[in-house]
Amino acid sequence: MTWDTITLTVEDGVATLTVDRPDQLNALTVDTLEAIEAGLAEAAAEDARAVVLAGAGEKAFVAGADISYMVDLSTPEAQAYAELGHRVADTIESFPAPVIAAVDGYALGGGCELALACDLRIAADSAVFGQTEIDLGIIPGWGGTQRLPALVGDETARRLIFLGERIDADAAAECGLVGEVVADEAFDARVDELADTLAAQSATAMRAAKEALNAAGDGPTAAGLAVERRAWSGLFGTHDQREGMQAFLEKRDPSFE
Ligand code: HXC
Repeated sequence: MTWDTITLTVEDGVATLTVDRPDQLNALTVDTLEAIEAGLAEAAAEDARAVVLAGAGEKAFVAGADISYMVDLSTPEAQAYAELGHRVADTIESFPAPVIAAVDGYALGGGCELALACDLRIAADSAVFGQTEIDLGIIPGWGGTQRLPALVGDETARRLIFLGERIDADAAAECGLVGEVVADEAFDARVDELADTLAAQSATAMRAAKEALNAAGDGPTAAGLAVERRAWSGLFGTHDQREGMQAFLEKRDPSFE
């Protein structure tokens, strides 16, 4: 099945949803997020027993939210964009079967956050991870402030978010951000194998396991996500947000206040 910005295939119980904007390194526009949501609904309707989330092309899983879209957003527009991304992340998190982020290339900003919402993360050894929003004068806005510390611990999450550090796949595995690193040439086959293994398990038990695991972090995370949405959209219209994004688009270093 094809939308403009994603593709979806379902084969032997495994749905593969690929973000398909390789020229923009699969950066997420409103259309793309809506297509991911529609693709996941289709995968659920087809009773997918495992989902693989991937990015098209050689270079990126997803290089983040689309900066050319965000640069001039007002606070209410930013809030709507944050809410849309949260909805997509929540749809992944509550999908009734495991979702694997197959990270081959850049997973930056919102791309990393999309991976964080998945059940499992597997990386090719050339993958690069980062919550790089600080370089643009903003903060993670699709769940990163809550899901990243839950996965890697508070200190590491603060280092990643405060410094905007980009880390390679081995470093990501070392801090618990990914569960498995695979040589580039073996990556696709290993992703298929993992997805097939998950799809072969009891779908009912898998759904129950996922529901119970999700419940472990429910209370504080939900409250934290609401704080994040407010804080993220409140940055729009500030000098540093405009300057940070404009500087990226003009391919120069930002000058922050
Ligand atoms: C829009 C993007 C983009 C993005 C890359 N592109 N990332 N466009 N939004 N996030 C575009 C570039 O502008 C360029 O378009 C093309 O993709 C190829 O990118 P290059 O920069 O030329 O490639 P390269 O030199 O290989 O560098 C790759 C890169 C760099 C290191 C990944 O593109 C980069 O730093 N991208 C931004 C990453 C980022 O900051 N992500 C976080 C965004 S904030 P042209 O037209 O010039 O060919 C975010 C917030 C989430 O995600 C929360 C929202 C609520």
